Amino acid sequence: MARIIGGIGTSHIPSLGPIIDRGLTQTPEWKPFFDGYAPVQRWLAERRPDLAIVIYNDHGLDFFLDKMPTFAVGAAAEYPPGDEGWGIRPVPTAIGDPDFSWHAIESLVDDEFDITICQELRVDHGFLVPMNLLWQSDWPVRVMPVSINVIQHPVPTPLRCYKLGQALRRAVESYDADIDVVIVGTGGMSHQLHGERAGYLSRAFDTQFLDLLESDPGRLTELSRSAYIDGAGAEAVELIMWLTMRGALEPFVRRVHRFYQMPVSLTAAGLVVFENMAESRR
Ligand code: DHB
Ligand code: FE
Repeated sequence: MARIIGGIGTSHIPSLGPIIDRGLTQTPEWKPFFDGYAPVQRWLAERRPDLAIVIYNDHGLDFFLDKMPTFAVGAAAEYPPGDEGWGIRPVPTAIGDPDFSWHAIESLVDDEFDITICQELRVDHGFLVPMNLLWQSDWPVRVMPVSINVIQHPVPTPLRCYKLGQALRRAVESYDADIDVVIVGTGGMSHQLHGERAGYLSRAFDTQFLDLLESDPGRLTELSRSAYIDGAGAEAVELIMWLTMRGALEPFVRRVHRFYQMPVSLTAAGLVVFENMAESRR
């Protein structure tokens, strides 16, 4: 049986792409940020998951306002990087696992999640920058991208996303192959990119979110979408991707690592790594 070994929440910041591509991660300006990812890189190198379910949002690359799926699941053999306006980055093409994806898609639809099935999907910084931060330039995992709409309102509720995570866990645990799966939620933390409150950040909101995500995620599902936007900025609603990740884990988790730095670009950047309790006892 397949199993989820743990989950990771991480910000996805487009301007990090050129920093990584130009080899600037160890400059005095950037070293403290990139050092924050060393513990998760070590954890992944030790645990060597076979597959990563990467819950991210497309920012208008392959989906746009004309057609915007609420939940979209990749079923492709590979997911090439897309051009977000400054050329295609020199990153690997992420390798898919169509057999697992089709199983997960069947399981999700049986579970009444009417997802969009993507047999072709180009991925943007919401997916690529976390892959760089977690596995650097060589990606030794197969992936299943899951894209959640956070740009065309109404976006899905936090509770619905948490339930999607629970359904993803059922999909993994009903897969008849002995593989280890890590689940990654990207985006956030507090930030707003436009309008009067552009540049708004809230360390207080983020700290409480990180605390509750670990110990009492149900409380975060009770917050409305507006509460995320009012409390932490319009684009902080991306945190529903972290809630999806948390829904796929056990109620009680062990925290492996937590890191927070603000500002990074226009965002408060966060990272959290949880292990399922059963996994940490192994
Ligand atoms: C930034 C952050 C994001 O999540 C995003 O999608 C785009 C830009 C930023 O901080 O610059
Ligand atoms: Fe984003």
